[in-house]
Amino acid sequence: MEDQVEEVKRKTDIVGLIGQYVVLKKIGRHHKGLCPFHSEKTPSFMVNEEMGLYKCFGCGAGGDSIKFLMEIEGIDFREALERLAGKAGVKLVARKFDVGGDKQKLLEVMELAARYYHWLLTESKSGEEARKYLVDRKINTKLIETFNLGFSLSGWDNLMSYLIKKKGYSEEILEKAGLISKRSGGGYYDKFRGRIMFPLQDSGGKVVGFTGRILPSLAKEGEPKYLNSPETVIYHKGRMLYGFYQARQAIRERKRAVLVEGQMDMISSFGAGVTETVAVGGTSLTDEQVELLARLASIIYLSLDADDAGTTAIKRSAELAEKRGLEIKVVQIEGGKDPDEIARKSPGKWNEMVESAVEVYEFVMKRSLAKNDVTTVSGMRKVTEEVLPIFMKIENSVIKEVWTKKLAEKLGVESAVVKSEMERVKLGKDTRGQYSQNKVEEVAVDNKMEKLAKRLVGGLLIRPEAKKKIKSWMKDIIPLGASGKALHWVLECDEVSPAKQAELAPSELKGLINDAFMAEGEDETTEGDVWGLAVQLIRESIREKRKLLIGDLKKAREEKDELKEESLSRELSSLDREENKIMLLLG
Ligand code: UTP
Ligand code: MN
Repeated sequence: MEDQVEEVKRKTDIVGLIGQYVVLKKIGRHHKGLCPFHSEKTPSFMVNEEMGLYKCFGCGAGGDSIKFLMEIEGIDFREALERLAGKAGVKLVARKFDVGGDKQKLLEVMELAARYYHWLLTESKSGEEARKYLVDRKINTKLIETFNLGFSLSGWDNLMSYLIKKKGYSEEILEKAGLISKRSGGGYYDKFRGRIMFPLQDSGGKVVGFTGRILPSLAKEGEPKYLNSPETVIYHKGRMLYGFYQARQAIRERKRAVLVEGQMDMISSFGAGVTETVAVGGTSLTDEQVELLARLASIIYLSLDADDAGTTAIKRSAELAEKRGLEIKVVQIEGGKDPDEIARKSPGKWNEMVESAVEVYEFVMKRSLAKNDVTTVSGMRKVTEEVLPIFMKIENSVIKEVWTKKLAEKLGVESAVVKSEMERVKLGKDTRGQYSQNKVEEVAVDNKMEKLAKRLVGGLLIRPEAKKKIKSWMKDIIPLGASGKALHWVLECDEVSPAKQAELAPSELKGLINDAFMAEGEDETTEGDVWGLAVQLIRESIREKRKLLIGDLKKAREEKDELKEESLSRELSSLDREENKIMLLLG
């Protein structure tokens, strides 16, 4: 593997590769240009052809051709490697266990399905009604082609007959691809029937799943309006943004992205010229999706439904954005139900609406003020409770000060008062437990532990010999969440072949386990590396426990509950011992 990575890098023309994204000028031994990873007016981005490396002296970004492609396209190591290998004509040998084989087959089958659906929509007699439906929705031929839209017939086995009888694929592979489902009485049926089909493409344009919208005349009681592919080896919902493949170039060029709710919103917005639009597609926004955008954009325009999920998305993205140095704006929808409706009625109006988006802090404050009556005590309390936890997270203290002042003005108090209230909330002295500060921290820790656990799963698949020792260390320190479950499962599994382990895993963990393997799967991972991961995870969990204990201890002191204080101190020192032991393990 290592050799092949080197070979791909050696055979990749890094200047040619980066030249596709950045205008480069040869200066001496280097090529120079404007950094694509941060905004600058004078070039500080260098490419060294001989060494196959790039480096930005402005923002510090740097690495080899694989890293460049990963960062600029928002893809993982494996995908970047595969793409460069394809270009360089290097044939990658299969990995130790053949997710690759399955993956390839699934991609093939999805591609064929997309073509079949597209043909039905654009050329078949039975696609007539669907064509008319799209014309009515102002989705023209160009958009149909750009997004490779399709139509699925209303029968139970049209796709199946095509892919199995005509193309020779097996039911098993179609089921793995999420295209067909098992009948309770035996046999299978097409999952998508009578629907406008939206292929979900990865950042390289490959079809990895589908969303299907029911044709209104075929809608049946109890069937969802939109149906989505299940998660598969090739499709991970949380990492997907609908339209990213088509919008990517505009996002990079305009350094901003517009985030909408649905597939139709995305396409209409794109059609109206806001080509930097992507859709979350009915799920809640994940960190991974924000990261994907953050690699290319410096401003994210949120235009999500104003329901609870939308509001949570606004809060979460504001927080994430602070960490990534991103700016968040909120597009306020007026004069229509959703972006699709507005853009369809008047493309110009939709463009204006995006341009007049307000800063997320302004939006949060205004909305809270509009909802609550600040001439009453309870109204004031509500506003503080809603707004402060968000303002508190602003990292730039100048900006924080500005917004604190604005809020104080609106409330008719001195800004020092707002600030001290903020301090109080931050220190967790709030006893009503209304503020989300602690919750947010818990989530962050969980994520860190989840990530470590996932990496550990990957490591253990490759180095099963590390299991015994790690099992004895971990005992009750299995983290929560799906990766925790996967870790628990892998630790208990006696198999040594990675393939067998992935195969045996309960179906809801399969995706994660495959994923963990792909991410970790370098052959050079040693048993020691895996121990290291386990130690990190254990330390993280100890750190977390300590935080909770110290919190309780403080409370016990305040309440002068000496007995409790004593038992908590004992627990704390045994935690210290535990940590010392772990440190000794590392040597
Ligand atoms: P909406 O109900 O707002 O649909 O759901 P929409 O986007 O306006 O669709 P049209 O205009 O009626 O065609 C918003 C999003 O939630 C997801 C879809 O991604 C949809 O675009 N959704 C909705 C589902 O996944 N399943 C459903 O049954 C409904
Ligand atoms: Mn709609």
